[in-house]
Amino acid sequence: MTTAIPHLAGNFAPVADEITATDLPVTGAIPAELSGWYLRNGPNPHAAASAHWFLGDGMVHGIRVDNGRAVSYRNRWVRTSTFTDDAVRYREDGTKDYAAGVANTHVIRHAGHTLALVESSLPYELTPNLDTVGPYDFDGALRTNMTAHPKTCPTTGELHFFGYEVTNPPYLTYHRAAADGTLLLSRPIDVPAPTMHHDFHLTAEHVIFMDLPVVFDLPTAMRGGGMPFRWRDDYAARLGVLRRDDPHGEIRWFAIDPCYVFHALNAFDEPAAEGSARIVLYVMRYPELWRADGQVDLDATLWRWTIDLAAGVVAEEQIDDRAGEFPRIDDRLAGIDSRFGHVSTRGDAGALIRYDLHTGTSSAYEFGGGRVPEEASFVPADGRPGGDGYLVSYVYDPAADRSDLVILASNDLPAGPVATIALPRRVPHGFHGNWLADE
Ligand SMILES: [Fe+2]
Repeated sequence: MTTAIPHLAGNFAPVADEITATDLPVTGAIPAELSGWYLRNGPNPHAAASAHWFLGDGMVHGIRVDNGRAVSYRNRWVRTSTFTDDAVRYREDGTKDYAAGVANTHVIRHAGHTLALVESSLPYELTPNLDTVGPYDFDGALRTNMTAHPKTCPTTGELHFFGYEVTNPPYLTYHRAAADGTLLLSRPIDVPAPTMHHDFHLTAEHVIFMDLPVVFDLPTAMRGGGMPFRWRDDYAARLGVLRRDDPHGEIRWFAIDPCYVFHALNAFDEPAAEGSARIVLYVMRYPELWRADGQVDLDATLWRWTIDLAAGVVAEEQIDDRAGEFPRIDDRLAGIDSRFGHVSTRGDAGALIRYDLHTGTSSAYEFGGGRVPEEASFVPADGRPGGDGYLVSYVYDPAADRSDLVILASNDLPAGPVATIALPRRVPHGFHGNWLADE
């Protein structure tokens, strides 16, 4: 069935059912050192319709790779309470059911738990085979929504994240969990209005929030049928800096030009001379978002923000004019000066781009034939953070209406895939995922 609704058409359309396939055909050679799961989440409305691309029920597509073999592929809905029981977010008494949500945005692993995440509710835990265990609330300690973009500190193993709300203050709450999954702290952050916070930044010494002019809009929410946020010219864009060693301390706010950022590539504290500490942040920046409606009709490009903590100002520089999204690094360098960053592009020339942020150069692989990659996760190939590895991504071929999982060597993207795993059918366009290596 075809539809004229863009977020339900072409490869945005949901697949109708769950399948399992084993011993998948491979072109090239899967690197023998890769053993684990590649899991990626995305919207797949089970009623075959949703009010916005961002609002469909989560479906995780998983590939099991072991010892050079593509062992299996499976796709499973995340069976949240809204999926199984038509649970609603707001109860009749006005309180919120934090487990009611679509869990459609990301998959992470923390403290041995595999979690499907969406920013408007609690995570849901999954088994490795993608069966749903249930909502995950840090043993009852988490009392807000949880972002789909938490950050794991590679030094401490702590999980840093936040939750944002639209109905009542505090609109924003910062959380930190220990490596063993214990929720260590939750602290409210004062923002003037319920702004949409999709992602944030972690460095070795700081967390940085992006308070940007896309604000909850009650008339849009009352009309229903989409994302209830709109651009506001009268809301000042700011970055809020919190010291990690003083998590209940003051947030310092820094003005930036109006923009929206869904995704951070990485951030780090720059070694600096006495009295000139700076924080460098790389983001995929949109010049504006959702002024007239809820369509994403402008492109994001890679920008660098440099916060000068002594001078109290932010330098803003565009790094590239190519449109891109879904930025990823070697996550072992989260919050550290990662030399390389990877970005996906769609449109006429679907490609993966690798930026060398130290030299200002880049390399890329264009898939050709209208084929478009999804987000590419970085898979380490050696024990050295920042060393060589692989990019893995689902790639959709519109001519054949099917998808592959491709594996490229990160240090030689132009050579193209070292392995292409043929999937039994297409994987709809989705959001984020992770390579979960066997532990
Ligand atoms: Fe995201």
